[in-house]
Amino acid sequence: MRIQIINGPNLNLLGRREPDVYGARSFEDYLTDLRARYPEVQLDYFQSNHEGDLIDCIHRCGFEADGIILNAGAYTHTSVALHDALRAVPAPAIEVHISNVHQREEFRHRSFISAACRGVICGFGLDSYRLAVEALCL
Ligand code: DQA
Repeated sequence: MRIQIINGPNLNLLGRREPDVYGARSFEDYLTDLRARYPEVQLDYFQSNHEGDLIDCIHRCGFEADGIILNAGAYTHTSVALHDALRAVPAPAIEVHISNVHQREEFRHRSFISAACRGVICGFGLDSYRLAVEALCL
């Protein structure tokens, strides 16, 4: 089982960015625990602040990986191009958010990528990623 985790803009600052919303832990630190918890799953990780780089990553992994876990950050709410990239590849994708976007500003309630994903997990902090791994392993 090979899963590609993709984090979008500003998620490189996890642990330092708005800790009241996103927690005090860096993603790299969390990923170490996640990998230890699922030794049978290859968890590859990519982060970029650039929309085109995220699309290139989906193109690269989307024909090989068994699944994609995508937290597109703010591009969730704007990007038709990410929606199209997910539709262009066979790997199933899970949309993930750390915060419960539906409890936040109205502009976060709309996702351009949900319709191209198998499912959506949001609001469970970093544990949202583990729940997505579970969903892909079902
Ligand atoms: C986020 C929610 C988005 O609205 C926001 O732009 C992010 C993070 C989350 O994980 O909760 O950057 O995707």
